[in-house]
Amino acid sequence: KKPPSRKGSMADVPRDLLEQISQLETLFTVDTQKLNTIVDHFIEELEKGLSKEGGSIPMIPTWVMTMPDGKEKGTYLALDMGGTNLRVCEVELLGNRDFDITQSKYHMPPEMKTGSSEQLWDYIADCLQAFLESHHPNEAGEDLSLGFTFSYPCSQTAIHNGVLQRWTKGFDIDNVEGHDVQPMLEAALKRKNVPITVTALINDTTGTMVASNYTDPETQMGVIFGTGCNAAYFDIVKNIPKLEGLVDLDPETPMAINCEWGAFDNEHVVLPRTKYDVQIDEDSPRPNQQAFEKMVAGLYLGEIHRLVMLDLYEQGFIFENQNVERLKKSYSIDASLLSQIEEDPFENLTEVEDLFVSRFNIQTTEPERKLLRRLAELIGTRSARLSAAGIAAICKKMGIEKCHVGADGSVFNKYPHFQERGAQALADIFGWKDIPSAHYPIKVQPAEDGSGVGAALIAALTLKRMKEGLP
Ligand code: GLC
Repeated sequence: KKPPSRKGSMADVPRDLLEQISQLETLFTVDTQKLNTIVDHFIEELEKGLSKEGGSIPMIPTWVMTMPDGKEKGTYLALDMGGTNLRVCEVELLGNRDFDITQSKYHMPPEMKTGSSEQLWDYIADCLQAFLESHHPNEAGEDLSLGFTFSYPCSQTAIHNGVLQRWTKGFDIDNVEGHDVQPMLEAALKRKNVPITVTALINDTTGTMVASNYTDPETQMGVIFGTGCNAAYFDIVKNIPKLEGLVDLDPETPMAINCEWGAFDNEHVVLPRTKYDVQIDEDSPRPNQQAFEKMVAGLYLGEIHRLVMLDLYEQGFIFENQNVERLKKSYSIDASLLSQIEEDPFENLTEVEDLFVSRFNIQTTEPERKLLRRLAELIGTRSARLSAAGIAAICKKMGIEKCHVGADGSVFNKYPHFQERGAQALADIFGWKDIPSAHYPIKVQPAEDGSGVGAALIAALTLKRMKEGLP
């Protein structure tokens, strides 16, 4: 089936380029049969992650043990440490599945991603302080309660703490891996006299699930397709053998699981990795990790495109006599550039032409641009289809036939056709042949703000449980 964005004819594309396109199609297409094989293996790996021995998908119990009932009330702070920005929110829960939110964004200097740990925590504490100064002048009294969205794999023994297993998404800050991040943030807050207590440490996916369930109770899963990719869902304690002996919980207790499914297939059993995916992995700060994420998430999509272009250039298929120096810079293409390539409305792709001149000083021919667009479609479609495989695996594992999935992240929200391609892949996997797409039983839809509202809700749920003496 041709993807919806394919416009214009390939009639004027010379044969050698057509051949390259067809080879790329073979490399990057994940057909339904392959998709089903991936889903089956995914289910096994989700289960392995929950077992005592563990597997490569971390499957982290988050200690979030209830969905909101909608009646939550009060004012909470939320802090979202994303990749590019730091966001501080004050969320007022109104008690009727509604909320008010005030927020400020603080730029996170890119050097910070690989800087020192003190620098990071001090910077975060400064931002929180700046937020309080502008929104709570002179307020004294009790500490404010904070839901901290820290979206990296953290092992949690309780809701307010988390030991960072390893950085993902290109972060590489020393002395954080292997440590509990909550005391580090609290120490910085103390040093600077910021009256805030970290009530809950949450993953963006868990926040997304909870926030989306607050406004749409049919939501059973939260997923992020952004710089990284991941999912959270509710399991029950009896399905989580690795909790045995650790806590005394009723076997039927629900427990939100932060899957960290970016690590799926780290052993390279089933994913159709290309040599470009292998290269991205090898050149990354954490090789052999996040195999799935590196094929799906926004951080890597542009890089895959860049590596293919360079390869075709080096083999003499494209950009003849052009200086590709600028294209040689790693990560010089991000997913938004692929979006622009896919969205060029002109038959002869003149916007892409201008883009390549201004960004890379490269003159492209029309057939080359057609190849580049097809390549963007292939990379974007592969990402959407693999993402759907993850969602399908969770639904099948849990026996869910019908639900809403709250989804967030730049790729989900902005990448052209990502949502339709993902829905089509779910239809292929589940065989929804006669159902119109508007009625697909599993619906992946834009989420409520998980890292803000979700974090605040989880802080509220936590304080309530603490008052009731619940774990
Ligand atoms: C990475 C992180 C994970 C996060 C995801 C989306 O996979 O490890 O914690 O949920 O990115 O932001």
